Amino acid sequence: RRVFIDGAWLPPEAANVSVMDRGFLFGDGIYEVIPVYSRRPFRLEQHLTRMQHSLDGIRLANPFRLDEWMGFVTQLAGEAEWDDQSIYLQVTRGPMAVRNHAFPKDARPTSVMFAEPMSTPPASQREQGIAAVSAADIRWLRCDLKTTSLLANCLLRQLAVDAGCVETVLFRDGFLTEGSASSIFVVKDGVLLAPIKNHLMLPGITYDVVLELAAQHGLPHEVRDITEAETRGADELWMCSSTKEVLPIVRLDGATVGAGGTPGPVFARMYAWYQEFK
Ligand code: PDD
Repeated sequence: RRVFIDGAWLPPEAANVSVMDRGFLFGDGIYEVIPVYSRRPFRLEQHLTRMQHSLDGIRLANPFRLDEWMGFVTQLAGEAEWDDQSIYLQVTRGPMAVRNHAFPKDARPTSVMFAEPMSTPPASQREQGIAAVSAADIRWLRCDLKTTSLLANCLLRQLAVDAGCVETVLFRDGFLTEGSASSIFVVKDGVLLAPIKNHLMLPGITYDVVLELAAQHGLPHEVRDITEAETRGADELWMCSSTKEVLPIVRLDGATVGAGGTPGPVFARMYAWYQEFK
């Protein structure tokens, strides 16, 4: 197993980063998680485009060109010991001589990448659905950037775990934003509803796939603001991400979602389309 660090490939125990790295001291960096199916990176170009958006948002020059990243990711996906993987990639603003919030004059970014086996959710979660809690979205106002400053997301996810649930659904000012590490969809009266991509949520790659599949298969869908009341009154509620794919949420804060408290018929269709497509 090899870890990518600044263009070199090293055994994990030899891949070291300075304690003065701004990623470590300030969470000053960005990341991506890229799913790999049968050693083939899924939606690689979209992930790398989003990586560039995050880098631009934190004013950090990309240490590599897009085609170089494509090569690195493809090489890693090809040589890892698992067919299905998730590739983790991060770029931080690198080490500083003394601790100082302001950017170093000649920042030398630190790039790190490694593969892990893909941990797809157990079939039971898909078949029976999962439980979620809700919380106020306490994050900053640039949630469109995939930064490594994930403390708020970690605290929010832990609320779910503490309650024996899988995900925390977030509301800001009465509107649905997303999950602590996932995008959220609502189904009402046969229509798939998705929140608008803006600075309050991550532009999810899986979110895009779900909407593309809806369009392709003629499933009515709307991208618009979704209120907390609409979320709680949903017929179906889904979460999705690169590692979880699509999962049905059947309980929210202890209340049953929709009629049955079981995964809904629209979810079943979307799940099948996703499996066929990926
Ligand atoms: N998280 N929203 C947030 C806050 C996320 O962290 C993620 C993914 C998503 C879904 O994005 P995508 O479909 O592009 O994976 C939405 C990754 C998987 C993670 O942090 O591990």
